[in-house]
Amino acid sequence: MMTDLPNSIRDRFPLLRDVAYGNTCSQGALSVNVRAAYERYLSDWDEKGAPWELWVEHAEAVRSRFARLLNAEPDEVAVTTSVSAGVSAMMSGIRPPDGRNKIVISDFEFPTIGQISHAQELVGRKVAHVPMTPDTTLRMDRLAEEIDEETALVCITYVSFRNGSKMDVAEVIRLAHEAGALVLVDAFQAVGAIPIDVKELGADFVAGGALKYLLGSSGLGFFYCRQELIEQVLPTVTGWFADEDIFKMDIHDYSPSPTARRFEAGTPPIPNIYAGVAGMDLMHEVGIAETERHVAGLTAQLIEGLDRIGARMVTPRDPRNHGPLICVATTDDYAMVAALAEDGVLTSPRDNSVRLSLHCYNSAEDVDRMVAGLEKNSHLLAR
Ligand SMILES: Cc1ncc(COP(=O)(O)O)c(C=O)c1O
Repeated sequence: MMTDLPNSIRDRFPLLRDVAYGNTCSQGALSVNVRAAYERYLSDWDEKGAPWELWVEHAEAVRSRFARLLNAEPDEVAVTTSVSAGVSAMMSGIRPPDGRNKIVISDFEFPTIGQISHAQELVGRKVAHVPMTPDTTLRMDRLAEEIDEETALVCITYVSFRNGSKMDVAEVIRLAHEAGALVLVDAFQAVGAIPIDVKELGADFVAGGALKYLLGSSGLGFFYCRQELIEQVLPTVTGWFADEDIFKMDIHDYSPSPTARRFEAGTPPIPNIYAGVAGMDLMHEVGIAETERHVAGLTAQLIEGLDRIGARMVTPRDPRNHGPLICVATTDDYAMVAALAEDGVLTSPRDNSVRLSLHCYNSAEDVDRMVAGLEKNSHLLAR
């Protein structure tokens, strides 16, 4: 674990030489480690042609990395190409024995969770939404009301991509389990930034990807399913990599793997797996708890700066209710993002606010540059 962040890690990210990078919520910065992994993929391809055995080894290596990250067993983890792929497989396959048919989702969910849930209306399921409070945290009272004896599944995002709000996931799981419902946690904006222990949380399903705080690339995700549930879920969104024996090449029946591999589909995303292993190994070396501590200091510094210049946060102020993403209200989010980029401060727009996300490689100077950029463009701040 690295203690002198960000100095111990910063020079592995060429992008950071010139810019203050505040867009890890979209994609992590490229490290020399991940670039080398892509080069290794190309040379393995060049030297060996179609080294399937090596590639299967890599796919299993990434499964183990995801399992270690979540404190899960490798057999509880599917290697997917996106959050959407794993969640679609799961939702197509849950069949509660008591006929429950309602899905409860928070209004903080990523579009893919809303869209996959509403697609279930075509097979007779109902979807209920739980709103946010005016101070942009989750309405726990409304959540508790919505979870009833009809509820099959509750979907909760760990950290909202929309406004950076961090949910009390353990409490959501407690409420859902008390009412006999299962819980899907979308951890994409948390994994790599916040330590996640699926056993401690008691989560049923957890989905995420390698692209952001895990420093990998797009096209690689994971889907965790709690051991006891695996054989109860029979995905109809499936493919040959979900079969109990891939190499049998059987076309006569549906016999899904007894492990979480049943949530997989087609050929694994091999180049992204090379990159994902390198990214996750780097985050393992840095330490996720260490990253969380470092970033908590930076977000506190950022919030102080926002107060000083009179900027309005749309992320909850309480450090218990946010993670690495702080969003600031603007009158024109795209104009603000473009203006900041001119001064080498890279951010992203969402819902009329500018998103500033911080990671292990960000420095106090980066935060100063972010605040100075917002102050310079204060005509675009919404008060
Ligand atoms: C919270 C969250 N969930 C899901 C996704 C996207 O998922 P997928 O891997 O299906 O593209 C994102 C991407 O930004 C996200 O922030």
